[in-house]
Parts: sequence; structure tokens; C-alpha cells
Amino acid sequence: MNPLSLQHNHLHIESADLVAIADTYATPCYVYSHTALTQAFQAFDQALHGRNHLICYAMKANSNLAILRLFASLGAGFDIVSGGELQRVLAAGGDPGKVVFSGVGKTTAEMRLALDCGILCFNVESEAELHRLNETAGQMGKIAPVSLRVNPDVDANTHPYISTGLKGSKFGVAHEDALRLYRLAASLPHLKIEGIDCHIGSQLTETRPFADALDRVLTLVDALEAEGIVLHHLDLGGGLGIRYQDETPPPVAEYISALLVKLQGRAHTILLEPGRALVGNGGLLLTRVEYIKRGTEKNFAIVDAAMNDLMRPALYDAHHDIVPVVPRAGNGEVYEIVGPVCESGDFLGHERRLDLRQGDLLAILSAGAYGMSMSSNYNTRARAAEVMVRGQDSFLIREREPIEHLFALEHTLPRL
Ligand code: LLP
Repeated sequence: MNPLSLQHNHLHIESADLVAIADTYATPCYVYSHTALTQAFQAFDQALHGRNHLICYAMKANSNLAILRLFASLGAGFDIVSGGELQRVLAAGGDPGKVVFSGVGKTTAEMRLALDCGILCFNVESEAELHRLNETAGQMGKIAPVSLRVNPDVDANTHPYISTGLKGSKFGVAHEDALRLYRLAASLPHLKIEGIDCHIGSQLTETRPFADALDRVLTLVDALEAEGIVLHHLDLGGGLGIRYQDETPPPVAEYISALLVKLQGRAHTILLEPGRALVGNGGLLLTRVEYIKRGTEKNFAIVDAAMNDLMRPALYDAHHDIVPVVPRAGNGEVYEIVGPVCESGDFLGHERRLDLRQGDLLAILSAGAYGMSMSSNYNTRARAAEVMVRGQDSFLIREREPIEHLFALEHTLPRL
């Protein structure tokens, strides 16, 4: 569902006018559509209907409590990668019993917190982690539920920074080591094997790599079950891409049915860890043009959002569509859309044809995933406000950060 529409020449998200949102909450500000998020979740849920399943939202994509609460209310679990994310799940009223814990560097303190809360499963990524988890659980008199994250060595055909399923990657354990490590896990007294896990990368726009990875995982499942190591669930990770520009990712139902075909006759509960596909196109970053600057070679539109608010263009050279909130009829000019940060990499879009004036509002689209969650305070810039729209109502779900908060934890030295 696309929550955006032009009404009376003003861009609206659901039934809320973005001009009014900017007046009320100021810019820069992230704006999300409650309906788009809900429908994105339901598409996954419905595609898995009739099969035991749990959709564990990869909350690194956007971890605002209001969004976590919404997904929890729809029945979601969560894929976390830190103790901090687990604390967010608890703060949002999510069920720790539906949490899977991924990540290559879990600390003992994080393991303890997760064991205390009774999470569903640790997605273990190395032999050393198996030993540490076994020891930690033993000290606490608990049994830790585990899956091994297996690296299926398939090429996800995406940006190298977000491709994780190849042999050279730091993630997961090698396919050829998996049997040995499962035997080890089965022999460790404070671990209980629950499942198997894989995640091959992000922003995947083809079904093929997912299907190939599943084939590789199922070979292992069969080998394990032949040895009497029985798995309760298969966690197939996240990674389904969205349309930013002209990508054509498969619809959710098509991607899931390609997986379900291969799973016929197997009783395992299916876990998925989607992040971007649930929130990416349900959010935008609203920004205002501060200055128009005509250079000798290029025109610049300097806006009040920057790379610290949305890092994806600077970090991955990622494309986000940028559209005017109140379009003009003119043909416009070609602009570099840049922020105020002191880096040449501080751009939000290259060579965009827009009819612009100082003070105009722009919407940077597809910014619901890995936008706010990757933001920083670089240049002592306060993080943007976040607003959720439902119908014509809007709700402030994160206040603009007060500048004093940025240095509240800092201390100067005593005088000599
Ligand atoms: N599960 C695991 C173990 C992951 O590492 C990730 C993402 C996901 C699930 C969710 O993937 P998704 O469904 O969102 O593709 N910052 C980058 C994306 C990094 C993804 C990291 N891991 C970006 O802005 O494109």
C-alpha cells in the first residue's frame, strides 16, 4: 500500500496534510503511516496463514516504541541484535518469549539479560559463542534455547555492505562446520537445540537467492534429523527488498510461497525476520529547503535534514525519491539536494529535477527503514522528531531531541 497521495495539490500521508504536519511538528521530521505498517505486517502474516509461524520484526530497521508496540499488537515477535534492543521490546510491552537474538558479538551481560527474560532463541554465530552461552546458562541454572546461524554461501546479489551470506562474511557458521557444531551443541548440558537460522543479506530483489539458501538449509536439516537432532523451527531470516526507485522485488506472497513449496511435508514452525519490507515504504523524512544556492557547475538545494538524519545516501550511495510537498507546475532545474553538515558526502539526492524555492517542503521517500535508527548527532545536531499518522490524526512518537541532551553526559575536568 502506498500511503501517499496528492490532495488539493498538497502531499498527504493517509489523510494527513504534510504541510500541516510540518507546521505542527517542525522539520526535519520522520513521518510514518500506521496503515501502511499494519498492512505490510499483515501481508507476511496472511502469506503464512495455515502454517505455524512467527514473524520476528528485525527492529534494527526502526526501533521506535510506538512501532514496536504496533507490531507486537499484531502478533509479531522481534529479531534483536543487542541487549538495548531487548530493553526496547520490554519497554514497548512486547513478549520476550517471541524474541530471537542474532549478532556475532553477544556479551555475557546481554546473554544474562536474555536468559533472565526467557527469550525464544539465541541465533548463535560461532563455536566460541556456543561455549560462552553454555557457561553463562549453567551459572544461572538455566537452559539456553539455540539455533545455529548457518552461512549458506549463496550470493544475495545486493550491495556488498549488506550482503551477509557469502563465505567471506563475518556472519554465521560455515555450512561445512554446521553438523559438527550441532553435535557439539547437543552435547553441551546447558543448551537446548530449537532450530536453525540463516540470513543472507538485505534489500534482495529476487526470490532465487532465498530459495537457494533454503535448499542448503534443508540439506542440513535432513542430515541433522538423521542423527536424531530434531529441530522445532526454521528461521529463514529477513532481507526482502523494497522499491526505492525502479527495483522490482517480488511481492511478499510470491516470495513466501516460493519458500512454502519447498517446506511442504515438514512440520517445523517457520520464523522470518523482515525489517525493511515492514517499515521502509511506510515512512518518509520531511524536510524544508533552507537555501537555494546556484553554483558555477551545479545548483544546490540546501535542506534542513542531513546525513546525520538519513545516512543511507552517504553510506551506500542509496537512492531515495525526493518529491515536493506542494508541487509547482514549472519544469524546474536540476539540483543536488544536500544538508548542512560539513562533509562533501552530506547529500540526500543527486541531480534531481525540481521546481524549488527557499522555504519549500520536500518529502524524502522510503525512509521508514534504517533512517531514524541509523541517525547520529554528528555536528551536534539534534535527532529529528518522529510522527505517526493514522487516518487524519497525527501523533508525536518521538520528540525532537533537546540540544542539552546531547552533552548532558559529558564532564569537563576539574581545575589544576
Ligand atoms: N535478520 C538479520 C540477522 C539481519 O542482520 C538483518 C539486517 C535482518 C534480519 C533484516 O533485514 P531486512 O529485512 O531489513 O533486509 N543499514 C542497511 C541494512 C542493514 C541490514 C542489516 N541486517 C541499509 O540501510 O540498507
